[in-house]
Amino acid sequence: MNTVPKHVAIIMDGNGRWAKQRFMPRLAGHRAGRKAARAAVEFAARNSEIDVLTLFAFSTENWSRPEDEVSGLMGLFGKALSEEVPELKKNGIRIRFVGELSRFSDELQTQMAAAEELTQDGTHLCLQLALNYGGRADIAQAVRQLAASAAAGELDPAQITEDHIAAQLYGASVPDPDLMIRTGGEKRISNFLLWDSAYAEFYFTDTLWPDFNKTAFEAAVNWFAGRQRRFGKTGEQVSKPT
Ligand code: IPE
Ligand code: IPE
Ligand code: MG
Repeated sequence: MNTVPKHVAIIMDGNGRWAKQRFMPRLAGHRAGRKAARAAVEFAARNSEIDVLTLFAFSTENWSRPEDEVSGLMGLFGKALSEEVPELKKNGIRIRFVGELSRFSDELQTQMAAAEELTQDGTHLCLQLALNYGGRADIAQAVRQLAASAAAGELDPAQITEDHIAAQLYGASVPDPDLMIRTGGEKRISNFLLWDSAYAEFYFTDTLWPDFNKTAFEAAVNWFAGRQRRFGKTGEQVSKPT
């Protein structure tokens, strides 16, 4: 039984409430959240079993937030990228962006492409940042690509399998998440990795994202170690013979 998650995906929620509790503006919560994200990356990089960490940083729905919060977040992404990417490179961490990136400013897109290129040889950890990501949008773009192939006569619609769809998703190059963590107390997926999380173990914690430190991450990983992943089989079928 594999008890260590190879791919951990995190819905980093609770920045706004963290700030509110302190009578601070929401953006201060996002700034504190950035520090928690750095600590999570460090934890995952130090854990030799974790190969992929996917952080949900901005959803397709988050554009509906007040304009000043959205622009503040964009500024924060740009700043974080320029400040953190050299360190990622140094630590052998490869960065990938998942989501519809064309909606971001040209400057941010250039930064993201440069970060991917600079860190492409990193083998220690693959860090996926989900930006303007939506699980439904992901499936829709995969279906568009398959439909185009079918229309071009390259793919027989009757032969389309789950593997064809999975191969077109943003996360096609990494295994599905084993452990999905959501901080901030809500028990919902909020349009994150809908397809990919089909068999993920879900860990919900009330801890607000800026307070999610290495000890908290470790608690989630330890909880995961106690799960029995059955993938539709019976417990007896999957339990190890003693
Ligand atoms: C998550 O924290 C960060 C983003 C969605 C960018 P929130 O900003 O959603 O924090 P709460 O849920 O309002 O506390
Ligand atoms: C999910 O958090 C998105 C990210 C963490 C980036 P939200 O705060 O946007 O989710 P809802 O709106 O509470 O479902
Ligand atoms: Mg939230």
